[in-house]
Amino acid sequence: MAKTALVIGGSKGIGQATVEKFLQAGYKVGFSYNSTIPEFHKQYPTDSVFASPCNVTQEEQIKSFLKEFKEFSANQIDVFVYNTGITIDNLTVSTSTEDYDKVMDTNLRGAWIYLREVGHLMFFRRRGRMFFVSSVSASRGGRGQLSYAASKAGLEALVRVGAQEFSRVGVLVNGIAPGIIETDMTKNIMSYLKDNQKNDALFDRIAMRRVGQPLEVANLIHALSQDEITYMTGQTIHIDGGYML
Ligand SMILES: NC(=O)c1ccc[n+]([C@@H]2O[C@H](COP(=O)([O-])OP(=O)(O)OC[C@H]3O[C@@H](n4cnc5c(N)ncnc54)[C@H](OP(=O)(O)O)[C@@H]3O)[C@@H](O)[C@H]2O)c1
Repeated sequence: MAKTALVIGGSKGIGQATVEKFLQAGYKVGFSYNSTIPEFHKQYPTDSVFASPCNVTQEEQIKSFLKEFKEFSANQIDVFVYNTGITIDNLTVSTSTEDYDKVMDTNLRGAWIYLREVGHLMFFRRRGRMFFVSSVSASRGGRGQLSYAASKAGLEALVRVGAQEFSRVGVLVNGIAPGIIETDMTKNIMSYLKDNQKNDALFDRIAMRRVGQPLEVANLIHALSQDEITYMTGQTIHIDGGYML
């Protein structure tokens, strides 16, 4: 029987690359999205991919999305990826409570609900791999990124606690912390730097002197979900081309 993977926030960027990576590896894959109506998955057989809208800030939507996905996958989730994340950058003094709450609800509260719901299922199957996509911002902060950095730092704590609660039965819980990856999330800053010939200032910070691509993150998640990875849990792995060195 094919293994199944579930990617939350799979309509574009790192999430889309992860969905396609697992589909190409022969998994049955489900993914959710919020406002982007995806088309890319239509090139894959309909019995191998399940796509449905689900806003992670709405608990009832999460529960009905999972119910539908479990029907598609016959209650099986081998790999779970919480990839959803947003930024609303602003200096602390100019940030509204509403914006702060939106970032925390999307990046952290949604992840917690999925940890509980999917962790429960994996716990009773006594197997599974869970990945939560964090960011280098969790460790280094970033001017104007208080809500984002705090949500990702919270996500890394969630990973440690999740590992302590679920790993005893073989459910491994880990985080993935990308550096700067070329997606819609970074396109404004990338084009600003390019237009102002400031790319060098950015690349000076990155040992590999380039930004990363979504597939490079997807490849890491796929590699860490392999059966031979059996003794790593509660960790958050940086994938940043040497940005944090
Ligand atoms: N790109 C980077 O440089 C970078 C660096 C470090 C960490 N990360 C992290 O990597 C992850 C993916 O980032 P990305 O750059 O690929 O971003 P992206 O292209 O903006 O994709 C974000 C994904 O999250 C989904 N999403 C957003 N709000 C949602 C909500 N309320 N409910 C459900 N889904 C929602 C989006 O769906 P819709 O499009 O349908 O709204 C989309 O599928 C995020 O957690 C981000 O924080 C990215």
